[in-house]
Amino acid sequence: MIIFAVESSCDETSCSVLSVEERGERPSFRLLSNIVASQIETHRLFGGVVPEIASRAHAEVISGTARRAMNEAGIAPSEIDAVAVTAYPGLIGCLLVGTSFAKGLASSLGVPVVPINHIEAHADAAYLSDASLSAPFGALVVSGSHTSIYDVSSPTVFTPVGGSRDDAAGEAFDKVGRIIGLSYPAGREMDELAREAFSLGVNAGDIALPSPALPGDTLDFSFSGLKTATLNYVNSKRQSLRLSEDDPLPEETVLAVAAAFTDAVTSGIAKKVSRFLGERKYDKLVMAGGVAANSHLREAVADVCRKRGVALSVPPVSLCRDNAAMVAVAGYFAVKEGLFADSSMNAYASEEAAKKVFSR
Ligand code: KG4
Ligand code: ZN
Repeated sequence: MIIFAVESSCDETSCSVLSVEERGERPSFRLLSNIVASQIETHRLFGGVVPEIASRAHAEVISGTARRAMNEAGIAPSEIDAVAVTAYPGLIGCLLVGTSFAKGLASSLGVPVVPINHIEAHADAAYLSDASLSAPFGALVVSGSHTSIYDVSSPTVFTPVGGSRDDAAGEAFDKVGRIIGLSYPAGREMDELAREAFSLGVNAGDIALPSPALPGDTLDFSFSGLKTATLNYVNSKRQSLRLSEDDPLPEETVLAVAAAFTDAVTSGIAKKVSRFLGERKYDKLVMAGGVAANSHLREAVADVCRKRGVALSVPPVSLCRDNAAMVAVAGYFAVKEGLFADSSMNAYASEEAAKKVFSR
């Protein structure tokens, strides 16, 4: 089976071709192409994603990205069996570009179109890097827009059991990075700065910051208090050093903030993951999404998994950030369940709205 997939929920336009063989117990995935056209350089000028600019950029490049994906895969459009597309959640104008393109392609080929949940697709990326993965498993998706924990009972049944009640982990990394003078998106640079700080012996506890792990039995997080506390610390530091908002912070402050913030995020997430794995009896945890690239988070979650005797599966960075290959995998499982949409398929900014319409 050949799945063609489209991803356009935020600031990457991506198209992918996935070949799936169904011999044996598990499907065997062969990724034939995964083209990603990133808009990051455009949005960097504004310090974050500007929705209308993002939608227009998707419209400009989506046909070319699709053609490149087919060329690189070496397939003809007539070989495609189904078109999978991210239909929710995301920026609505961006999603509409991808879903309209996917519907047009599917109807011109006379094949079904399959609406995909972007967050669940992040976890499905792990099927491409871990041939032994099969549901049930636990999943942690940490991205620029989501921090969610799921029970994955079957390939198409994701039950959310915890997550952020406000900002996402990646958004918090980006905002705090901006506060200390980094450009958008700041996650990778924050990762490197924290590493440098720890290697220089900076103590994360020197700046007292609240944990994003909410107290009690819940598996929920809140990142807004942590973000505000970090901003307040930086503002009072600026005052005490008589620096204006435009003056760069001293290197030692940048390193101290990167270390303390990273520690708060990683230990907060690790704490809830430990509780999650303690409550469930999974033998595998998938961690995916753009923030899964964070080396400190990987170490902290790997440590928790080791202590709980659970295997950890993290896709490579290229499959953690937004891409259509993950949408193609989710598409394959949706096709197997017959979760097709008709020609009136729409896109939805929120999961709540989508779930009233789609069965997945
Ligand atoms: O999954 P993704 O590509 O897009 C969304 O669906 O949101 O995630 C992008 C997010 C950005 O916030 C970026 O700063 C963050 O992932 N990120 C990182 C790292 N690499 C990317 N955050 C922390 N550490 C990293 N190494
Ligand atoms: Zn994403």
